[in-house]
Amino acid sequence: MKNLINIGLVLLCVSATAQTQLPIPDTLAGPNYTLNMHKDSVQFFAGNISHTYAFNQYKYLGPTLIFSKGANANITVNNQIGDTTTVHWHGIHLPAKWDGGPHTPIMPSASWNPTFTVMDNAATYWYHPHLHMKTAEQAIKGAAGLIIVRDPIEAALTLPRKYGIDDFPLVIQCQQYDSSNQAMPLGMQDSTILVNGARANYGYTVYANCPAQIVRMRILNASGERSFNFGFTANKQFKIIASDGGLLNAPVSTTRLRLAPGERSEILLDLNGMNGQTIYLMSYASELPMGIQGGPTMPMPSGPPMDSPLNGVDFNIMQINVVPQTASPVTTIPSTLTNNTPYPIGSANITRTIRFTADSMMVMDGPFYFNDSTFNMMRIDYEIPINNVEIWKLVNETMVAHPFHIHDVQFYLFDRNGSIPPPEEQGRKDVVLVPQGDSVMFITKFEDFADTIVPFMYHCHILMHEDDGMMGQFIVKSNLTSVNELNLNNASINVYPNPAHDKLNVFINSEGNYEPFDLLVFDALGKIVHKENLIQSNSQINTSGWSKGIYFIEVSQNNKSIHSKLIVE
Ligand code: C2O
Ligand code: CU
Ligand code: CU
Repeated sequence: MKNLINIGLVLLCVSATAQTQLPIPDTLAGPNYTLNMHKDSVQFFAGNISHTYAFNQYKYLGPTLIFSKGANANITVNNQIGDTTTVHWHGIHLPAKWDGGPHTPIMPSASWNPTFTVMDNAATYWYHPHLHMKTAEQAIKGAAGLIIVRDPIEAALTLPRKYGIDDFPLVIQCQQYDSSNQAMPLGMQDSTILVNGARANYGYTVYANCPAQIVRMRILNASGERSFNFGFTANKQFKIIASDGGLLNAPVSTTRLRLAPGERSEILLDLNGMNGQTIYLMSYASELPMGIQGGPTMPMPSGPPMDSPLNGVDFNIMQINVVPQTASPVTTIPSTLTNNTPYPIGSANITRTIRFTADSMMVMDGPFYFNDSTFNMMRIDYEIPINNVEIWKLVNETMVAHPFHIHDVQFYLFDRNGSIPPPEEQGRKDVVLVPQGDSVMFITKFEDFADTIVPFMYHCHILMHEDDGMMGQFIVKSNLTSVNELNLNNASINVYPNPAHDKLNVFINSEGNYEPFDLLVFDALGKIVHKENLIQSNSQINTSGWSKGIYFIEVSQNNKSIHSKLIVE
């Protein structure tokens, strides 16, 4: 219905296109962040307003959180939407109880206060709700925002990082609205493109003024189902510099970038000498194969469930007006970026195979399953020993492509259908698109955060598939002999691993006890080797310079203390 109306609009509006300058969400710097998630509305279309969810001063989407590797993040989420929700920090490595999955709901009018140390590499991440069976509804109503992590390796490179000036955040969504202009969580006829929440097609154009120098774009595909095949007019070349969870080893020159829902990428566009010119960011969807949502519509006897005038055609997403250079412009692109070191394949001690399945081969709109079983909040699918290095093999036995996402870790893809994946997929990732009939393998390591109660999730990032049960969960188990669990004033303090090698993690499960703890580590002679005031849930001590032997840990609070032995080897 909406498609027909939109097509009508295009015909009427050929000469009167509404131009909107790319909205740039404000940034929030740490260590304290407050996110007020509230109900709002936007006049996306003539007639009825669209009901939305948003954070802070926005009517749709939310601010960009700036995290610094090694710094604390102390976040307060206030739930003002009048419904239960959760907020998940997609791609961020943090304790399960702060991950914001379906097991940690925030009740209406309640607040939630995750506190953690940022351990991730510089890249572009995001946040969105994750309540079971309501993720699609809440996310497509607008409850999402970006996270930019900064770190010293990225900071040392000559890269554009003037936010909104030569470094552009781009949250790109394609959605379906019903005849009363409300976002449809299960909409598979998505045709309304939004760029940072601004309408970008069918009579609307979003433009960005980009200086005639090297410009960076941080692109998130926040759509419910559609994959984009990004490129620029005239097949202009660009360089991919980062994948989901970090910089690539070196920039990758290309003319196309395929991003599935949940995936992020950072690219550099060379606009030197182009002042005054106009180009477009496009999706070359005609080049996507049938079966990837966004590619040509698959004909079905019963009528295609996934149909949209955008399927299988090339379309504009954003106009780029090249404007004069800024002061001290970045005009060259570094030839190398970082040094990712994937875990050696031989270091994995298990391969888990996850088949994507459906009730029959003909199913195109779900439900879809992992290994033939639907999600169950009460079932832990895998118990993973902490520090395990694992290979996960994903085999898509269905008719459509699925973007697989895993929490807690970044992984390294090393195999796509028996071949080495393209260089832009060899960096750190947390989402991988697995087209129909394909199989991929990645290797990852489950480090730092064990929790026997709160699981981490893995799921399809097509939000309707996820809500419909294409999800599973794992807990990371601390090997009990390797964890010291100290109980003091109703809090449990886990110190692991023991024996420690190069690092020691301290994780406090405070259960309402938010006062600081004092942590002391003594060597066998009673000399203090480490002293710390623990005010957050997790902390990591570098033990690589400590001599091998026996140490003693003391944790104290309010004149009470508790001791335990630690071995460093
Ligand atoms: Cu972006 Cu489990 O999600
Ligand atoms: Cu996630
Ligand atoms: Cu799926």
